[in-house]
Amino acid sequence: MPEQPDPTASNQPNQPAGSDSTAPTQPGHYGFETLALHAGQEPDPLTGSVVPPIYATSTYKQDGVGGLRGGYEYSRSANPTRSALETCLAAIEAGRHGLAFASGLAAEDTLLRTICAPGDHAVVPNDAYGGTFRLFSKVLERWGLDSTPVNVSDLDAVRTAVRPGRTKVIWIETPTNPLLGIADIPVLAQLARDTAALLVVDNTLATPYLQQPLPLGADVVVHSTTKYIGGHSDVIGGALVTADAELGERLVYHQNAMGAVAGPFDAWLTLRGIKTLGVRMDRHCQNAERIVEVLAGHPRVVELFYPGLPEHPGHDLAVKQMRAFGGMVSFRVHGGEPAALEICDRTRVFTLAESLGGVESLIEHPGRMTHASVAGTPLEVPADLIRLSVGIESVDDLIADLLQALG
Ligand SMILES: Cc1ncc(COP(=O)(O)O)c(C=O)c1O
Repeated sequence: MPEQPDPTASNQPNQPAGSDSTAPTQPGHYGFETLALHAGQEPDPLTGSVVPPIYATSTYKQDGVGGLRGGYEYSRSANPTRSALETCLAAIEAGRHGLAFASGLAAEDTLLRTICAPGDHAVVPNDAYGGTFRLFSKVLERWGLDSTPVNVSDLDAVRTAVRPGRTKVIWIETPTNPLLGIADIPVLAQLARDTAALLVVDNTLATPYLQQPLPLGADVVVHSTTKYIGGHSDVIGGALVTADAELGERLVYHQNAMGAVAGPFDAWLTLRGIKTLGVRMDRHCQNAERIVEVLAGHPRVVELFYPGLPEHPGHDLAVKQMRAFGGMVSFRVHGGEPAALEICDRTRVFTLAESLGGVESLIEHPGRMTHASVAGTPLEVPADLIRLSVGIESVDDLIADLLQALG
């Protein structure tokens, strides 16, 4: 029988009232797939429902004033469906506190306004997701948080960008979106500790199946759960996970105080997605590797970005900190922007759309689409760049589609 979970190992309240709390939640005791399927998801105590119910309620009857059942009083503060997701997120990231939000950007905003104050400074990647850069440069800058974009694969550049006493956050994505650069999590975690900053890792592209930043020394993991974690292109969501109990409490406080929580329907869909994260990621990675082989020899490809390529500058690091190299592939083509746009227009199995990480393959032009908000900034992406989110269709169909689109 699984051991009783450590009650401090997850958010409280986290179990539906009356739950027998025997579901596996403890990283270290169980494998990834077991945690993904069971953490926070014990059968419903009332009916035995194997799948956690969608608790579509805003409020909870109290047994006398202050007599809360299982700690639930109002669904902005906590909702059992969201609690199930949050427990599972904490378990699969090997953390203690998981928090679910309405979107990845809502999670980022809540985190930054919890750990920073006006006058502070952050180091951010110079090829961060465009929306993250926009949050720093257009929203939080006005609030008084300065940020410096640097190449986070270059340790000296990060060291130079840190302003001792003012830098409260070193923010990284690894792999980055869309250029798939790799940053050294343990070394940056040490640098953050040495300078009294926190290392935040946006783990959206890798997912906890391929990479767990917290055991490598990171302080907080961020996700757009919209992507691989949800996995089916049918829900927008975000997450924060930390192993630090005190920081976890502050985040829970701000999650409630700021209110950008995931609703119960969205939490349920996201939790359903997590159940198959491991098997989906295996297939995403296998398909991406086959596609990379084809693109590597193609005469229209100028430059190929994939951390699984031995010549990729972050390859050795990726081997050390990732289980496999992921499902995202980017490449530049001969013929500049017009050629890139034409290729994006010509695929039939790859759908031309923003986002990534769903089971269906997507193609996009980052310069005009996901990263349009960084045009004219140090984060501007090449105009001839195409990004693929390689799905789990039959790989031969994906290859044939790309070859016909490349002409
Ligand atoms: C790496 C990364 N982080 C964060 C986000 C923001 O997430 P959301 O769109 O769920 O707000 C995205 C969205 O594309 C992303 O790709």
